[in-house]
Amino acid sequence: MVEGLIYIGMLRTTWLIIFIASIDRVIPEFSPVTSYDLMKCTYGERGSLTATCVNATPSFFKNTLYKFDHLDETLRCVNCTLKSIEPGTFDLNGNQIKHLDLRNSQIESMKQKAFMGLIFVETLDLSQNKIRSVFPATFIGVKKIASINLSHNDITILSENGFLELVNLKTLDVSWNQIEVLDEKAFNGLKSLERLDLSNNKITELRNAFENLTSLESINLRSNNIKTIRGEEFYNLTSLLEIDLSQNDISTPLLHMSPNAQLRSLNLAHNRIVLLSPTFLEIRSLEELDLSFNKITSIARKSFTNLFNLHSIDVSYNELCEIKTGSFTGLPQLRVLNCSHNAITDVVISGVFLLHSLHALDLSFNRISDLDYTALISRLPRLSYLQLEHNALACDLEAEMERYFLEDNFKFVLYSNIPGEPKCVDKPTTKHSHTALESVQAPASVTNSQIAIFIILSFLIVAVAGLFYLQYRIYRETKLGRAVSTVQLLATDSNNEEHVRIKI
Ligand SMILES: *[C@@H]1O[C@H](CO)[C@@H](O)[C@H](O)[C@H]1NC(C)=O
Ligand SMILES: *[C@@H]1O[C@H](CO)[C@@H](O)[C@H](O)[C@H]1NC(C)=O
Ligand SMILES: *[C@@H]1O[C@H](CO)[C@@H](O)[C@H](O)[C@H]1NC(C)=O
Ligand SMILES: *[C@@H]1O[C@H](CO)[C@@H](O)[C@H](O)[C@H]1NC(C)=O
Ligand SMILES: *[C@@H]1O[C@H](CO)[C@@H](O)[C@H](O)[C@H]1NC(C)=O
Repeated sequence: MVEGLIYIGMLRTTWLIIFIASIDRVIPEFSPVTSYDLMKCTYGERGSLTATCVNATPSFFKNTLYKFDHLDETLRCVNCTLKSIEPGTFDLNGNQIKHLDLRNSQIESMKQKAFMGLIFVETLDLSQNKIRSVFPATFIGVKKIASINLSHNDITILSENGFLELVNLKTLDVSWNQIEVLDEKAFNGLKSLERLDLSNNKITELRNAFENLTSLESINLRSNNIKTIRGEEFYNLTSLLEIDLSQNDISTPLLHMSPNAQLRSLNLAHNRIVLLSPTFLEIRSLEELDLSFNKITSIARKSFTNLFNLHSIDVSYNELCEIKTGSFTGLPQLRVLNCSHNAITDVVISGVFLLHSLHALDLSFNRISDLDYTALISRLPRLSYLQLEHNALACDLEAEMERYFLEDNFKFVLYSNIPGEPKCVDKPTTKHSHTALESVQAPASVTNSQIAIFIILSFLIVAVAGLFYLQYRIYRETKLGRAVSTVQLLATDSNNEEHVRIKI
């Protein structure tokens, strides 16, 4: 309407333009009246089950003539200005609202009992507002809520008991806020919570905030400022399936879970990990481990012990200079090992055991100039895919490997086909690869490991036999009635022996 007037004004004289322009500026002063006229709720297209309210303020909902009936399962606010949600704002007679969408409604605060009266509500979208805090008692009276979205707000602290009443809540999204501090009791009461998204905040410390979230299946802590994890933060969460801790400042990862844990996936990518220490993870159920984009220079022995279900390890984009097969031998299910984009010069065949399940090994984008592939393959009986492109390998290697693996169902990539990139180094391949060509039949290391197992087994059999014999002796002597002293003799150390003999 104003534009129309301006148009007329342009046709008339300049003073008129000035006059209209000043009216335009004055309009906000009448805004209580004007915007109230603009506020309205309408039913969406047929069958949408959605009421859309535009330009509403908190007091509007109770004064509108629109009746929120059974056809209004969803209430959507568009261009609303809800600044402070007062108690009972949505306490609308007879409403059966299930989904309340208050996205982008300029909400700054929510008072106690703000959502009272929404007894059927299941999802509550509060994202893209300016909420600074969630105070206790905000959610009194809305027990059915299963999902709350608070992402893209200005929350700095999650304080004690903010969500206490929400015993049926399954999903809580608090991502993209400014949260620095998590109170230990911030998530009190959320006993049904399955998914918690705290990504893109400024959290530095986790404390025991998750201790009682016994239904939690997935937790996202990506892109925060977490520096340390003490190891027990998730210990009792036996329903947890995935933890995302990527893009933080963790230098010493340490994570232990109870033996009943089900955790499958752990993402530690983009942190500051330099060293992997022994048993830094005690998670028997773990299947996927992402350690890419860290600063790992070495993997200590026994770093990966007891990870009996681990399927894949990603250590790409780190600073490893060598890789030892022995570092991964305690992992019977390991299928994929990604070591690409490191500074690996040496692939060391260490330890005596095989990597039984490994079928894909990525060693691309490293500095390997010489690879004893026969020895390597002998440790990896299931390997079917080996990536070696972008190293400094000899050009002859391809033909040689092709001959060697002629009859195997084995794929290897030696050179990338990116135009202009160096493919290989023009130099003769080293001796061991040639000699290895002849020993296709039984690789020596397999025999070595078998010998080791054989020796251990023989030793065990002898030990068991010895024990049986001892047991038999005791049994016989018991029968002869001399047992007491003999048993004492056997059970005590040599110092007591004299004493026993004297007694006899
Ligand atoms: C909401 O506001 C935007 C920008 O002011 C406008 O383009 C849009 O048409 C408004 N939506 C409704 C439903 O009034
Ligand atoms: C929460 O809202 C944001 C932005 O409105 C959206 O991107 C995100 O997917 C929502 N989260 C959930 C769990 O639905
Ligand atoms: C977890 O629950 C127990 C028992 O109800 C309680 O003692 C403890 O304080 C709770 N922990 C946290 C961090 O709230
Ligand atoms: C785990 O739960 C047990 C028993 O419920 C409790 O004794 C222990 O303190 C809890 N441990 C952690 C780290 O929360
Ligand atoms: C290893 O990681 C690199 C970089 O993230 C990726 O491009 C490549 O596909 C991965 N290789 C395998 C075998 O998954």
